[in-house]
Amino acid sequence: MIKLYGVIGDPIVQSMSPVMQSQEFNQLGIEAHYHPFHIVDKDLKDAVKGMKAIGIAGFNVTSPHKTTIMPFLDYIDPLAKAIGAVNTVVRVNDEFHGYNTDGMGFIKALQADWKESFYHDNALIIGAGGAAKAIYYTLLSTGMKNIDISNRSVDKAKQLIMDCPFEGNSKAMSLKEAETSLDQYQLIIQTTSIGMYPHLSDSPLSLAKLNQDAFVSDIIYNPFETALLKEAKERGAKIQNGVGMFVYQGALAFEKWTSIVPDVERMKKIVIKHLGGNPC
Ligand code: ATR
Repeated sequence: MIKLYGVIGDPIVQSMSPVMQSQEFNQLGIEAHYHPFHIVDKDLKDAVKGMKAIGIAGFNVTSPHKTTIMPFLDYIDPLAKAIGAVNTVVRVNDEFHGYNTDGMGFIKALQADWKESFYHDNALIIGAGGAAKAIYYTLLSTGMKNIDISNRSVDKAKQLIMDCPFEGNSKAMSLKEAETSLDQYQLIIQTTSIGMYPHLSDSPLSLAKLNQDAFVSDIIYNPFETALLKEAKERGAKIQNGVGMFVYQGALAFEKWTSIVPDVERMKKIVIKHLGGNPC
């Protein structure tokens, strides 16, 4: 029987998961259908119940349901619980189990584009929202220690650090403070929406003090090269956009559903084609 998968969110038309996951199921000869479901907040509980009743084998969860879905699941993986957000649900017999593959997706992309081991490097995260939390918690949970967080509202960065159950050596700072101490970091991770289409010239901070050997990652993928990444490249740093993180979080979900490791390069190609261009 054809297995059913999908993604839930509001809005959902913009999601690239259906084209990416469907192609991979096809390429691997797995009989499956992956469908985008537009679910509004008030229907979330009923939607999860309905998905269980009709036999959905697994699904992705996107904004705004990543946190609010948690009470409606039967089990939540400890990392997802700590992060407070689920992006992947796996059916296990009659239960729905929730995971968060966003942070691990980021790490896999970093390993692919930068280097395998960066655990002794100093990292700076820009932003203190949901995406920053997933990345920060996952990096600390896998053993990285020196990660500072800079945010427009410093209190939010402080709170993120205080709430984190994983051991680390972190401080919170303003964007201005980060600008002046930028040369201390080998890894810069931009997690805010600043610079996202159509605000192409916006950047969260100046990179005047950027370490030339630094690696700068921006989780935005539209545009492929944000103003921040352009500046980093001009200053000689290596850069990465958000395509890799998106693809790897999806690949990890795929693996959880099927126990098959998908072809990440093939998935990446379809996403880049869908976005219409040449990535950096
Ligand atoms: P997400 O879940 O996608 O991470 P979020 O939780 O709304 O989104 O977080 C957005 C992040 O982008 C926050 O760190 C926010 O800073 P504040 O905590 O100070 O609000 C940051 N952000 C968004 N727009 C910004 C702007 N124009 N200038 C500076 N920071 C901005």
